[in-house]
Amino acid sequence: MKHFKRDNSLAFRIAIVGAGNVGSTFAYALLLSGLAGEIVLIDADKERAEGEVMDLNHALPLARPARVWQGNLADCTGADVIVVSAGAAQSKGETRMDLLKHNIAVFNEIIPAITRYNCEGILLIATNPVDILSYAAWKLSGFPANRVIGSGTVLDTARFRSILSNRLNLDPRNVHSYIIGEHGDSEVPVWSLANVAGMPLEDYCMSLGCEIGKEEREEINRQVRDAAYEIIARKGATHFAVAAGLVRIVESILRSQNSILTVSNLISGYYDINNIYLSLPAIINEHGVRNLLELNLNFKEQRALQESAAEIRANLDLLDIHPLIPLRRVKPLHGDPEPRAE
Ligand SMILES: NC(=O)c1ccc[n+]([C@@H]2O[C@H](COP(=O)([O-])OP(=O)(O)OC[C@H]3O[C@@H](n4cnc5c(N)ncnc54)[C@H](O)[C@@H]3O)[C@@H](O)[C@H]2O)c1
Repeated sequence: MKHFKRDNSLAFRIAIVGAGNVGSTFAYALLLSGLAGEIVLIDADKERAEGEVMDLNHALPLARPARVWQGNLADCTGADVIVVSAGAAQSKGETRMDLLKHNIAVFNEIIPAITRYNCEGILLIATNPVDILSYAAWKLSGFPANRVIGSGTVLDTARFRSILSNRLNLDPRNVHSYIIGEHGDSEVPVWSLANVAGMPLEDYCMSLGCEIGKEEREEINRQVRDAAYEIIARKGATHFAVAAGLVRIVESILRSQNSILTVSNLISGYYDINNIYLSLPAIINEHGVRNLLELNLNFKEQRALQESAAEIRANLDLLDIHPLIPLRRVKPLHGDPEPRAE
């Protein structure tokens, strides 16, 4: 397990580009976690970032020591992880895909600018539509795919486990089930592999007399899929659970934990899906994505995943990737795997 940086300092630097609801909540959760020694908030709205930084700094005497400041993209230099949460968020009734046109313009500007200052860190993308923008960030950065990660369905998987565990009256950490595919309306719940204590969910439910029928499963799927719409309708944004998910991914990177999390990454040759980013369970360590786990899905889930991939592909085909700043050539680092086929 890695607890120290290669230079033996403890000061992991995390740069957060986009200090709105998601970025600032992530900064707060990260500060409380004690994982980072340096947290820099970067936002087009400097005053907003400044206010967030003042507020965060006032928590320091009650939390863990860290250096927290408002910076600019040059402060991405030396960052171990650069979390990107800049761009427009969904308004009431908007889908994540509705944000694409605006947010690809933001990415065309900021990703090449970030990589001018940092070609060795890991890019962790949260901005929606996250699968498409993670793919765009991969293209725009020139980084190997293992170092460009989308937060993907980490959040949806947490929502699935939370709702299912509530139904079963169990600790959510003991309920294992995954949402894969798009972080969006076509996401795929993998009921066939859901388990409790290693027991397939159906066996667990049968032994305890708590079967979950087809209609109830559909209702749970709906609650997971529509959670963002429901929350945005009530409070205007979602940010706590995604921030916790981002901290969990960053923890696995900084501590090289080899944790398995459903992040979005480059897929090649899985159930005939190629050259797009979508979520599968992935092993995450100091190099980013070590491996993607190719789950053995049932026929219905395979079809649903292919449809989810087709949805992402259709939007990728519309994508206008035009870096506003010339790209730098990025050399692979020690630990980066051979490039995966596109
Ligand atoms: N991946 C997930 O699971 C997940 C969950 C929730 C929200 N999101 C997404 O995260 C993104 C941010 O959401 P939010 O609620 O924080 O929105 P927000 O509007 O509160 O914050 C966005 C911030 O980005 C900044 N910004 C815009 N353009 C910029 C640029 N070029 N450079 C630097 N900063 C820039 C804005 O000034 C603003 O402060 C949205 O796309 C949202 O849909 C993702």
